Amino acid sequence: MCGIVAYTGSKPVMPILLDGLKRLEYRGYDSAGVSVISRKKLKTIKAAGKLNHLEAKVDRNISAHCGIGHTRWATHGGPTDENAHPHNDTKKRFAIVHNGIIENVEALKASLGKATKYNSETDSEVIAHLLTQQTGDLASRVLAVLSQIVGTYGLAVVDQNNPDTIVVARNGSPVILGIGDGEMLAASDMSAIIRHTDQVIHLDDGELAELTPGGFKVMRMDASITNKEAITLKDLNAHYDLDGHPHFLYREIVDQPGTISQTISGRLDERFSTAHLGGLNLEARDLIGVKRITILGCGSALYAGMAGASMIESLARIPVVAEPAAEFRYRNPVIEQDTLYIVVSQSGETFDTLAALREVRRKGGFVLGIVNSVGSTIAREVDGGIYMHAGPEVSVASTKGYSSMLVAFSLLALLLGRSRDISPQRGTSIINELKQLPQHVQQVLALEPDIAKLAKRYKKSSSAFFIGRTHGFPIALEGAQKLKEISYIHAEAYPASELKHGPLALVTKDTPCFVVLPNDDLLPKTISSIEEIKARGGPVIAVTSAPASESERIDKLAKAVIRVPDTGELTSPVLFGVVFQLLAYHSAVSLGRDVDQPRNLAKSVTVE
Ligand code: G6P
Repeated sequence: MCGIVAYTGSKPVMPILLDGLKRLEYRGYDSAGVSVISRKKLKTIKAAGKLNHLEAKVDRNISAHCGIGHTRWATHGGPTDENAHPHNDTKKRFAIVHNGIIENVEALKASLGKATKYNSETDSEVIAHLLTQQTGDLASRVLAVLSQIVGTYGLAVVDQNNPDTIVVARNGSPVILGIGDGEMLAASDMSAIIRHTDQVIHLDDGELAELTPGGFKVMRMDASITNKEAITLKDLNAHYDLDGHPHFLYREIVDQPGTISQTISGRLDERFSTAHLGGLNLEARDLIGVKRITILGCGSALYAGMAGASMIESLARIPVVAEPAAEFRYRNPVIEQDTLYIVVSQSGETFDTLAALREVRRKGGFVLGIVNSVGSTIAREVDGGIYMHAGPEVSVASTKGYSSMLVAFSLLALLLGRSRDISPQRGTSIINELKQLPQHVQQVLALEPDIAKLAKRYKKSSSAFFIGRTHGFPIALEGAQKLKEISYIHAEAYPASELKHGPLALVTKDTPCFVVLPNDDLLPKTISSIEEIKARGGPVIAVTSAPASESERIDKLAKAVIRVPDTGELTSPVLFGVVFQLLAYHSAVSLGRDVDQPRNLAKSVTVE
């Protein structure tokens, strides 16, 4: 949430900041701004709205070699020019960009007194004013200010009187340093750095770094120096772009046969009909000791976790629950030694998921991560895990990330199942199912024209329902989530069995009901739910892998039927998911929505 980029070196800074902000824009796009030091003067330029508003205001060729930039997702104060970062002190000596929340802002403002005039409604601005109260070099001033702050921050500061120095600090919001040749960068994620260097350092919470073109110094909050080793980034797709597609979301949907193959690659152990997951850091003995599993995540990661819970419980016969990470962390959870905790996160930076992970570890629990972003905070803090290897995901709504989470759960379910009751034959058939999954996804992608027609037909609906049972319910939740977040059509998911307990009252001829209808034991019961909807005049769209014997009945009941390959309970959630991704995408496009950056949302939610 909010993106920070900073550069000091010999190159013109403005193009580097703007390019960095472009790559970070998915973290927030309410407003953007930059502060650069040009001819010994601090210049701050900012603009509400998307980055192009800022680009129209700045001089790309300004003579400046040191600066900071920010793209904002509003927390305190609306998305206006004034509330955009960077913020300055009254004399415009300092400029700061901040990601996080300052909880004691009122007390800090009181300490500055009534004479201090604020230009914004943000909590962040107070930092710029507090810097003027301190003495010493920039790092000492920042340390002194941070010692007064209660809250979270990823912070970058420049000072007109130290024209080539940048100070950055981290507590709760990511900050990464990039080490170049005669230049230093910092950013809230790698995407803004990887075009310049492959040498990076992750700051940890409670650390501050002073950057100059010649190098860097990392300190703890007590000003003691800490030696940090740079890591070399490998296999990072530095030039991730639209690749000829109209939107990142579309690219991320159609790339899935490849990204799913990457998640599976090297992880199928055909000899023992199981999965090979070296990063778990768990021995076979540990696996059989697992009595329960708790899965934690937010948004689509939570829904993938719910689907994963279903897979593991069914295959390995271990009780599994999936919970919103933010609720779990605040309910003083009971942590048990024989429970395995799994945190799921595409970005590896979602604040609530990270906080839940820390809460479990603080109490002595063992935590695995299912994470996409290599080297992210969650990836670094878990005891072991599964990298998704889905490549960068830029569009705010998760698609390939979500699917790769499901695949990672399938692999884990296979491993846990084979460490317990399931036979080698069943293991082999699951391996085959997984091997064929990329092909099956390709077949679902070929249904795009039919799905696009459906999207157009129902785009005027003010509400839609998504229903499913047991394994199908988490799929329905994610289907509704996709549709609402990018098309803004109100969508609700229910277990099909719950319809008659309330939601049926809202079903009319104008509320399309998307029914998840896999070929499972509950198929006849879910078909009965369709009857109930039809009897109330609700148009049913069945997404199904039902066998031919049921086709006639389903065709009669439904206004439209989308048929996906009949695979198995581990992989079918991916196929149904792809149908709903395409449905949401085409609904959003035909309604003229901002597909990649939907209103009010951000991709990486690094605040509570
Ligand atoms: C935000 C995004 C969602 C995402 C969720 C969790 O809300 O808009 O698309 O599912 O965060 O993100 P994570 O990176 O932890 O998977």
